[in-house]
Amino acid sequence: MSSKKRSWAEPYKIKSVELIKMTTLEQRKAALAEAGYNTFLLKSEDVYIDLLTDSGTNAMSDYQWAGMMLGDEAYAGSKNYYNLEKAVQKYYGYKYLVPTHQGRGAENLISRVLIKPGDFVPGNMYFTTTRAHQELAGGTFVDVIIDEAHDPSSLHPFKGNVDLNKLQALIDKVGAKKIPYITIGATVNLAGGQPISLENLRAVRALCLKHGIKVVLDATRAMENAYFIQQREKGYADKSLAEILFETCSYSDAATMSGKKDLLVNIGGFLAVNDWDIFEEARNLVVLFEGLHTYGGLAGRDMEAMARGIEEAIQQDHMQARIGQVEYVGEKLIELGIPIVRPIGGHAVFLDAKAFLPQLKQLEFPAQTLAAELYLESGIRSMERGVVSAGRNKAGEHNMPKLELVRLTFPRRVYTQAHCDVLVESVESLYSRRHEIHGLKMIYEPKYLRFFQARFEPLK
Ligand code: F0G
Repeated sequence: MSSKKRSWAEPYKIKSVELIKMTTLEQRKAALAEAGYNTFLLKSEDVYIDLLTDSGTNAMSDYQWAGMMLGDEAYAGSKNYYNLEKAVQKYYGYKYLVPTHQGRGAENLISRVLIKPGDFVPGNMYFTTTRAHQELAGGTFVDVIIDEAHDPSSLHPFKGNVDLNKLQALIDKVGAKKIPYITIGATVNLAGGQPISLENLRAVRALCLKHGIKVVLDATRAMENAYFIQQREKGYADKSLAEILFETCSYSDAATMSGKKDLLVNIGGFLAVNDWDIFEEARNLVVLFEGLHTYGGLAGRDMEAMARGIEEAIQQDHMQARIGQVEYVGEKLIELGIPIVRPIGGHAVFLDAKAFLPQLKQLEFPAQTLAAELYLESGIRSMERGVVSAGRNKAGEHNMPKLELVRLTFPRRVYTQAHCDVLVESVESLYSRRHEIHGLKMIYEPKYLRFFQARFEPLK
């Protein structure tokens, strides 16, 4: 029987559970005010279903936990480093591995190694930490994603694709010498977990090779991207996820990785590269920022869990259930007429806050407001991905993104279908009283990555 005919039912059973509690409306009101109407500042204890992020929130398997007991906690040359190196070489295909404590550790390294002040770094939409490190290294990020990515209702199957004309225009304008590399997100988080096609990536690779520009893959959710390629791209239906992942990586020179997503762990990441000189410099720098190059800020056991996570995450039945759960929620919301980003993404369903709360101006923070209201409604925690996340430009003005989204992000192997149903019911109830919702005012704004710690007050 073909595995494709099965529903998304989980390919595992539950062996250990963590209790969660429902709060009263009064408790939630107090908790939200205390948190400055920012879901990042809520205590996890006060949250019923936590859809803030899929980062580090995964449930590990018994096989991974068993691996944790095999941690070789040597300062240098841990056995687990070599196990991880082997898994990265086998599945991602890069030659050299520098472990880091998480994705942004790898972004810091590659930005410092490759970017000179005054350089430009194009990418298929920005990611917060990636762009921040590019800017800290003196670079300027330039968005070269296709226009459809900024349109929540466009049904383009590969909204993560690069617009080659935009990339060419940047090369013509600033010159290839000022472009050390392009960052390719696969999938693109802020576009709604949308994939890039291999056809597009091949074309990007060819254009970059012609101009001596490197391609750095943000491989954080590249396995989820591989699943979409298998489902949607011509010629890939019969390829395994492992084959597609390997081919994806083959069009790049290096990858930054947050293992906290695809790789089913709670902490960990890496930089993987093919070029010896880049590797040498990165493994030298990692000693300053993370730890020795054979542990990079991780315990041996964390590297082992990540190595084992690679093997589990690349399995077809895992990915089918993982993305199947997200699609289950997305399809129910679409049936109810609730505005979400389409097609449904890999790691999350994104509510379109501009369409949900059209009465709010962008600087009344529609997505921030909607995330706060969803928490009040039912104790479900989500995340703003709109003007607060977009931060300010160099002139100090708000970056005004086209998208104002609330991300309902699904931890892997954590919540059940009944949790999903409660979520759908809560969003439906909120939608029915959307006209009564007022916006927020920002009363405290930190300098870096403001969405994490900004505080707000209700306008009414
Ligand atoms: N790249 C992408 C596409 C990400 O989604 C993240 C993290 C990172 C890089 C940075 O990795 O957190 O391990 O340092 N995304 C999390 C999220 C925070 O909630 O989407 P990190």
